[in-house]
Amino acid sequence: MDGYSGITALVTGASKGLGEAYARELARRGARPVLVARSGDALRRVADAIREEYGVEAAAEAVDLAAPDGVSRLIAELDRRGRTIDLLVNNAGAGTVGPFLDSSLTRHVDSVGLNVVALMSLCHQLGGRMVARGSGGIINVASTAAFQSMPYQASYAATKAFVLSFTEALAEEFRGAGVRVMAAHPGATATGFFDGTSATMKPAFTDAPGRVAARTLDAFAKGAVNAYPGRASFRATTWAARVLPRTTATRLTARLNRAMGFDRAHDLDAPVAPPRS
Ligand SMILES: NC(=O)c1ccc[n+]([C@@H]2O[C@H](COP(=O)([O-])OP(=O)(O)OC[C@H]3O[C@@H](n4cnc5c(N)ncnc54)[C@H](OP(=O)(O)O)[C@@H]3O)[C@@H](O)[C@H]2O)c1
Repeated sequence: MDGYSGITALVTGASKGLGEAYARELARRGARPVLVARSGDALRRVADAIREEYGVEAAAEAVDLAAPDGVSRLIAELDRRGRTIDLLVNNAGAGTVGPFLDSSLTRHVDSVGLNVVALMSLCHQLGGRMVARGSGGIINVASTAAFQSMPYQASYAATKAFVLSFTEALAEEFRGAGVRVMAAHPGATATGFFDGTSATMKPAFTDAPGRVAARTLDAFAKGAVNAYPGRASFRATTWAARVLPRTTATRLTARLNRAMGFDRAHDLDAPVAPPRS
């Protein structure tokens, strides 16, 4: 896969946020995006806008990827429509914010289902076909959160650590098979990621999704295994985590997350936890 023009690219989580930005940037570079998320109406709106603005084919497949049969239903639908996927962008992701015990276990488990199980299943199903064909590419969206444990985002950071480790291993296994695999590590990006929680991101400390998407695709085109598409200071945090003792890195991250109020953050549909003494 030498470039983006004329390829078919499956982008998960493409109804909004970074996924919409990836789909748009791919279309701008001449690819035909296949957009996946749960919200069919929002997906169709994005697909219509892409067709109109970039003059490329764009398809929408509404699927809950965290459902046990989500990935197999998606693959069956792709097969039914005769779509061969050249590039898989595993972008859909979710996570809780706040003390671990204050979110329901279901929320934590669902994010593992989406961020880990669905991502791995898509790599197995579509990656297997790419290796058999001898061509294709996979971009797994991890995060700067992948590089250290994160108190108050404990299960989310752990899912992203999985994505980092898994992606680096696949990149090496698939090397020479004509299939390139890359992990992307955005930092804070201005999306609706915290919608549904009381947490917010400070606009001055977030990157624009369009810029993150463009820099991710540039890095993939250059053959990177890991991409840091956010501002330089976000990348610098990943180095600190690699040189500091692990407990120190975890405590520093806890302090940072407390400064952002994440120790008091909660899901908006959950009862507010009583203050801890
Ligand atoms: N924003 C950040 O600061 C940031 C930083 C680093 C990494 N990331 C990563 O970037 C990726 C995109 O995040 P974002 O910030 O763009 O979040 P977002 O605005 O909340 O978008 C998440 C996308 O995933 C889809 N999605 C959620 N649950 C799904 C499910 N069960 N099945 C299928 N699709 C599902 C959502 O659509 P529906 O609700 O319609 O399903 C939406 O399209 C995630 O992997 C996230 O971890 C984000």
